[in-house]
This record gives sequence, C-alpha cells and structure tokens, in this order.
Amino acid sequence: MTFQEHILQGIPVDLPKVKSYDPAINHAPKRKDSLSKAEKELAVRNALRYFDKKYHAILSEEFAGELKTYGRIYMYRFRPDYKMYARPIDEYPGKSLQAKAIMHMIQNNLDHAVAQHPHELITYGGNGAVFQNWAQYLLTMQYLAEMTDEQTLTMYSGHPMGLFPSHKEAPRVVVTNGMMVPNYSKQDDWEKFNALGVTQYGQMTAGSYMYIGPQGIVHGTTITVLNAGRKISKTGEGLAGKLFVTSGLGGMSGAQPKAGNIAGCITVCAEVNEKAVHIRHSQGWVDVVITDLNELVVRIAKAKAEKEVVSIAYLGNIVDVWEKFDEANIYVDLGSDQTSLHNPWAGGYYPVAMSYEDANNMMADQPELFKKKVQESLCRQADAINKHTVKGTYFFDYGNAFLLEASRAGADIMAENGIDFKYSSYVQDIMGPMCFDYGFGPFRWVCVSGKPDDLEKTDAIACKVLEDLRKDAPQEIQQQMADNIKWIKGAQENKLVVGSQARILYADAEGRMKIAAAFNMAIANAEIGPVVLGRDHHDVSGTDSPFRETSNIYDGSQFTADMAIQNVIGDSFRGATWVSIHNGGGVGWGEVINGGFGMVLDGTKEADKRLKAMLFWDVNNGISRRSWARNEEAIFAIKRAMKSEPNLKVTLANSVDDSLLSNLF
Ligand SMILES: NC(=O)c1ccc[n+]([C@@H]2O[C@H](COP(=O)([O-])OP(=O)(O)OC[C@H]3O[C@@H](n4cnc5c(N)ncnc54)[C@H](O)[C@@H]3O)[C@@H](O)[C@H]2O)c1
Repeated sequence: MTFQEHILQGIPVDLPKVKSYDPAINHAPKRKDSLSKAEKELAVRNALRYFDKKYHAILSEEFAGELKTYGRIYMYRFRPDYKMYARPIDEYPGKSLQAKAIMHMIQNNLDHAVAQHPHELITYGGNGAVFQNWAQYLLTMQYLAEMTDEQTLTMYSGHPMGLFPSHKEAPRVVVTNGMMVPNYSKQDDWEKFNALGVTQYGQMTAGSYMYIGPQGIVHGTTITVLNAGRKISKTGEGLAGKLFVTSGLGGMSGAQPKAGNIAGCITVCAEVNEKAVHIRHSQGWVDVVITDLNELVVRIAKAKAEKEVVSIAYLGNIVDVWEKFDEANIYVDLGSDQTSLHNPWAGGYYPVAMSYEDANNMMADQPELFKKKVQESLCRQADAINKHTVKGTYFFDYGNAFLLEASRAGADIMAENGIDFKYSSYVQDIMGPMCFDYGFGPFRWVCVSGKPDDLEKTDAIACKVLEDLRKDAPQEIQQQMADNIKWIKGAQENKLVVGSQARILYADAEGRMKIAAAFNMAIANAEIGPVVLGRDHHDVSGTDSPFRETSNIYDGSQFTADMAIQNVIGDSFRGATWVSIHNGGGVGWGEVINGGFGMVLDGTKEADKRLKAMLFWDVNNGISRRSWARNEEAIFAIKRAMKSEPNLKVTLANSVDDSLLSNLF
C-alpha cells in the first residue's frame, strides 16, 4: 500500500499486527493510576468507540493492558508503519492545499527526530500531546485528505469530531485542547480525564501542530540570556567569563547550553536523566559532560579564569549544584531553572538524594510520598538559591512554574509583602517590557515544499524587510530589530533546522505583516512554494498566564483569560487557516489559557488580504490589553499602531496620581 493509500484508509479495515514496545525510543513515563474500576471500564468503552464491534473482544483486553501498564490507552497497535516526518506538500493526498499543509505540520510534530515521546504522540514538555491515541491520528489524517475548502474539521482535544460545512474564508480546522469547566482544571483532573480519553494536554505548539523543533526555543532562550546579560551589565560589558547556572536538558530546556554559547557565557546545566544528557551531547548542543561535583568546581574555575565560552552538562540533580557552588564559593552571575514544574508529580521534577529509577518507581507506586519528596527538594533548592542571590546572583523564573510550585511547597520564596515572589519572572523583567509590550514575539514560518532552498530564500526576504524597516524604526525598538537581523543572518550557519524547513524570529505587527506579504509575493512569482505562517502561543496576545506571559500585567487582570479567547475568535474570522485554544501549556493545566493560529500563504490576492487583516489583529489585540494595563511600552506601541491604521481606535487609560490614593482607605 502506498503512503497516500494508507492515509485515505484511515483506521485500517483489518487489524494491524501488534507492535512490540521499542526500548530504544524515549517513552512517556508510566502515568499514575487515577481511575476507579468503573472509570477504567469507561476508559476502555471510550477507546473501543473507534473500532468495529468484531474487534472489541481482542482490543478490550489489549487496551485494558495498556491502561494497567502505562496509565493511558495509546492504541500502540495502530501506530502506522510508514516513516513519520513532514513530507513535501505534494506527497499528501487531498483536495485542499490548506488541509495538506496541516498534514505536513502534524507529521512534523510526530517525527522521531522532533518529538519527545513519539510513540505516545507527545511532542514536548513531557505531556504535550498532538493526539491522545493513534486512532485519532489516523482519522484526522483521513478527514484532512478528504475535505474541501468548503468544510471545517472540528478537533476536540485530539478527537476529530468531524467535518462540518463552512466556507472558503473559514478556518479549515478549529482545535480546542483541554478546555474544562473551570472547577475541573486541577492537575489530578488532567490525570483522570486524560486517562478516560476525553481530554488532553496540548501544551502550546504540540496540540496546535506548530512545533518547529528546538530552534524556536533556542531563539527565545538566546534573546532571554542576552537581555538578562544586559540587565546585569554594569559598564556595558558583555557576558564573557560570566556563569549561568540552570537545569534541564529535555525538549525545551536542552536549548539552554546552545543559547548560552550563542550569547557568549559559561553555562552549567544539571540534568538527572542520562539519556537526555547523551542526546544533547551527541547533537553538539552541550560541549562537556561532567558527573562529579568536585570536578565541576575545578572546571568552572578554569573557564572563568580563561573567559571561555563553554557549556557543561552536569549529570545529576540541580539542588546539588546550587549547594555545592555555595559551599565552594563559586559566584553565579545568572541563575534559572527549567525542570518541568508545570508537571511536578508525574516526572517533571526529580527530587534530590534519590536515584532517577527510584524516583520513577515512587511516582507511580507511592504518589503521595513522591509529592512530599518533590516539595522537600524544592524547599532545599530555594534555600540554596537564596544564599547565592544574597551574594548578587540575578535569578529569574524561566516560565516553568518554579516559583509557583516552590511557593506551594512552602519554600522561602515570597517577597516581604507576602503577595509577590522574591524573584521576577523573565517576562516581568525581560521579555514583557522589552518585547511583548512592543508587539515583538515569536513569528515563524514553514516552507511546506520541504526545500531547504525555499527556506534560504525566505531568510533573505525576511532579512531585507527587517533591514528596510529598521531604517525608520523608533529608538525604542532598534535593539530588538538589530538582535533579530543578526539572528536571521546567522540562522543558516547555526544549522537550526530539525524536521520541517522552518524559521523563527521576533518581529512586531508591522514586521510580521511586511515579511508575510513579501513571502506571498514570492510565491505568486513562483520563486518559492507555499508557506505556512504561525507563531508560538508564548506571545504578545495569544496567552493569558499570570506567572508567565502576562506576569507583567499589574492591574489585577492577569488572572483573566479574555485576551486569549478574544484572540483566537478574532483570528478565526480574519483569515486563519487553523486556530487553536488550549488549557495548560508551559506552566501547567489550569494555570494558563493559550491560543495560536496557522495560515497558509499560496500567493493569491485573498491570502494577501487575509495576512494583513489577521496579523494586525493578532498582535495589536495584546498590545491594546497591555496598554490598558498601563504598561508604558504598550501605550507607546498602540499609539503608533493607531497612527498607521485609521480604523484602529483603542480605549486608552488615564494615569492616576498616587497621592490621591494613599489616604483613601
Ligand atoms: N519560558 C519559556 O519560553 C519556556 C519554553 C519552553 C518550556 N518552558 C518550560 O520549561 C520546562 C521544561 O520544558 P522541557 O520541554 O525541557 O521539559 P522536559 O520534561 O523535556 O525537560 C525537563 C528536564 O528536567 C530534568 N529534571 C527534572 N528535575 C530535575 C532536577 N531536580 N535536576 C536536574 N534535572 C532535572 C528532567 O529529567 C528533564 O529532562 C517546562 O515546564 C516548560 O513548560 C518554558
């Protein structure tokens, strides 16, 4: 059977052979047993909905076995045999170019070179799922191959509810992931309802088909470390010889050592999982691996003395590193953490003084004790970090819910007012005021022809647009423009492509619109093939997340999610090819609502109209909200946007004299 026939077949008529569990692949940890007997029966009943009754006897036992062994029903038997990767768009069957582009993006998210746990359909972040099971994948691909531009596919947390009549200008796919009635949005609710097969954690770009491998996070982390360096620089000196201590070499966190090298500092990144250390080291993303703390201390002293640019993986627990560096009096300039604390009880965080294997067993067999160990470890970690910050270390939370979980564990992490944390998040100090409030965010594109040549041409087009824009750009955004021009010039050389032919850079609304319009023109002139535009959800307008993306909103509205919901609705009727809205992502289930879009450029006039209408809204929605929250940089940006677009009219906030308030209550 050809690849196209496989796709068009959907769920196979004859049962495929049972698949053996491949130990060479990185698998999701066993999920905790969260269902009662009746709920387990319901989970199997739910799973069997996808299959003909004649197979129920075989499959019911098999699915019950998966639930017992892995805590979830993945339907491993139905994992396709063909290679999973983003094929050139012409290789997909179908009647809609837009739907074919979405298939390209879905397969990229499940590519073995890209995905964290590909057999469990997890792209990144430990639980960031594209689908809950393989039946959902097969059906979705079949629907996409059958659909026309007069239909819309509705995706409920990985489950394709079906094709509904719509129209050409409507999105081809509408994705929701993990949307819950608000009272059912605790970590344990995810465990239960995901095990039942009725919801999933879509992370940000996993369940929205917009992951582009590690380059997105390399770019974001480089910008963060560079700007953190500018923050601690006293005399304009750079990062040479300065030490950055952090943890995690997983899906996203693995970008830290590479970003540290691009930014030009010494990076120490602790990681407890030997496999993760090996992967990043063999990929050349981290230079040196050290397993002994004393050896690490000696190596750091040498690197500091020689102002080396070097990244070091320490195979072990981050708590030990912070404590050892305090004892050995090693000065840490920048500190952060990127363990997966959005998922603290199911493998995101490994407690100190326990082997990796023991921790994995304990989280499945003794979940309450494991939770206690995680919390004790977080308290110890916070204590050690506090000792360093007293000496001058600049510590920032990098959006992994470290401060949030540490505070819940009772760690000494609260500021004197008892409301704020002792340390700022990277959005409060760096990304918010320097990028998001001006509209700069992670714009990305994918050349779905699959041709590296196309990517090279789009890099050149984007660079030219940014250079032209920079000539007349106000002083306030010159640094951002310069950093991103430098990035795009070095992008080919840095060899950042893993999976699809994708690129990321930070641009504001004007930059995004002009780059996209130039791509559309190049497609119309047959210089390049079709392009998918998108962005990370971690952006100006897409995400309401009080401890991350919207942590620099101070009018109390950081706990509301109107912006993300408005954004996805607004994108959907302004021309997005697909839209998605998720609960969870980054900081955890129940902690964030985030959304995104994908837009196919095909060189037509309609695409040109769509990109202008949608990108303008997609950025300025967030700027208007940030300006209403009285963020100065956003007030500047929205006034500038109103000047450029007479149809934009935004309610502006009046400032209040502090002295009027101080005696009121
Ligand atoms: N700020 C951002 O832009 C941003 C971007 C991406 C991810 N994140 C967040 O960062 C976190 C990490 O993401 P990821 O994709 O790398 O997750 P991941 O699960 O793939 O990697 C985390 C790694 O941390 C290791 N680890 C856990 N506890 C440890 C400990 N005590 N000491 C040393 N190593 C330990 C794990 O073994 C794992 O390899 C997530 O919470 C994610 O949401 C933030």
